[in-house]
Amino acid sequence: MSKKLYIKTWGCQMNVYDSQKMADVLAMMGYAPVETPDDADLMILNTCHIREKATEKVFSDLGRLRDIKEARAEKGEKALIAVAGCVAQAEGAEIMQRAKYVDMVFGPQVYHKLPEMILNATGGERVVNTDFPVESKFDNLPQGQSHGPSAMLSVQEGCDKFCTFCVVPYTRGAEYSRPIKQVMDEAKQMVDGGAKEIMLLGQNVNAYHGANDNGGTADLAELITAIAGLNGLERIRYMTSHPSDMNESLIAAHGSIAKLMPFLHLPVQSGSDRILELMNRKHTAAEYLDIISRVKKARPDIALSSDFIVGFPGETDDDHAQTMELARQVGFASCYSFKYSPRPGTPGAAMGGIVSEQVKDARLHELQAFLFAQQLDYNKQSVGKVMPVLFDRKGDKPGQLLGKTPWMQSVYVTAPDRLFGEMTDVTIEKAFQNGMSGTIVTTELQSTPSQKREAA
Ligand code: 5AD
Ligand code: SF4
Repeated sequence: MSKKLYIKTWGCQMNVYDSQKMADVLAMMGYAPVETPDDADLMILNTCHIREKATEKVFSDLGRLRDIKEARAEKGEKALIAVAGCVAQAEGAEIMQRAKYVDMVFGPQVYHKLPEMILNATGGERVVNTDFPVESKFDNLPQGQSHGPSAMLSVQEGCDKFCTFCVVPYTRGAEYSRPIKQVMDEAKQMVDGGAKEIMLLGQNVNAYHGANDNGGTADLAELITAIAGLNGLERIRYMTSHPSDMNESLIAAHGSIAKLMPFLHLPVQSGSDRILELMNRKHTAAEYLDIISRVKKARPDIALSSDFIVGFPGETDDDHAQTMELARQVGFASCYSFKYSPRPGTPGAAMGGIVSEQVKDARLHELQAFLFAQQLDYNKQSVGKVMPVLFDRKGDKPGQLLGKTPWMQSVYVTAPDRLFGEMTDVTIEKAFQNGMSGTIVTTELQSTPSQKREAA
């Protein structure tokens, strides 16, 4: 009888990718995934530490898992509880101390060691592993299991940038890029397994500098060029990038590689040079705008996206006004914005000039109202157009499919299940802030979906 595995995932795409990899490793040990923890033999919380109250959320979930574990124990059954991800990496000892019922705590670099850790935990040991052997992780994880038409492929991990608000350099460690051959092998397996889209992932993916076959290193543009050569693959995306690593070859790739989708997520965080300096972002607002204009020159229809933080220590009304102005100047298709949350151990957490919660709330409200209106306007421009949509998810209602346009807009349609995983032309009919709806272009009228369309 197969064992049951429950994984709850918080946070970024890297965590979603990691959870899939853990499930792949555990599948080899006979674990099958289940949707709820109630009768799971192994329960994993894959956590995120990037913003506030992460630890408290983990403890509140752990309380529920403890009840399940105890109920199982009363029936003479054994269930293991594990905490993985960045909270585990940063606060593993505290978790073990506070929650005696937790069996395993391990960081993002040791998922390939799960079989050994589970064996030890089953034997009654409380396992803590927050090492950083990043190379061996990629060498030892199962490769290329495709998980649907849109696959995630981790090519880079960690970060050396040390933005003063961010825990990533501490929880994920130093920057590491996988060799180009290893990435290509995994990409090929994904395409053979039916993936039509690959999202290249990394905390700082455009800093990619993987070893190539000639003893040198390849940058992200070179990697994208190589992957674009794979027959059957139709779309390539990458996430997340730092402005300083937007080199000329990557900008040019947006103009010359048709499979590279016209979407760029490029976090700016603030529009004020003073705050950018305090954040240690290593660029000014004008430099950011210059990158954007060069990317637009290479690919005029590119959809732009960003991350913002409001209320960083020392941020004044004037700094905030500059952030608003930058958002207005760029014209984003979609954005994420957050209130600054001091992360223990980061330089920001020790800075003076703390902004009150009330002011943070007001600034976030103002910025989000603006960004949401921009997003709605952007989506509205698509109404009446025909766009190729890759259906990669089933909708909540029967007969509904969800997919993405090249510009990363979500689209839902009423469509037969057989179109799942297919790239299909859709006439966009309605636009909302968060997505759009439309109808499938009927077969008689349907032309081959092309990658390059006129601007959305
Ligand atoms: N407080 C608020 N937002 C943060 N982010 C990272 N660290 C913090 C923090 N301490 C945001 C940044 C980053 C995104 C992934 O999360 O905007 O780009
Ligand atoms: Fe964090 Fe990104 Fe800055 Fe690295 S570049 S420290 S991951 S915000």
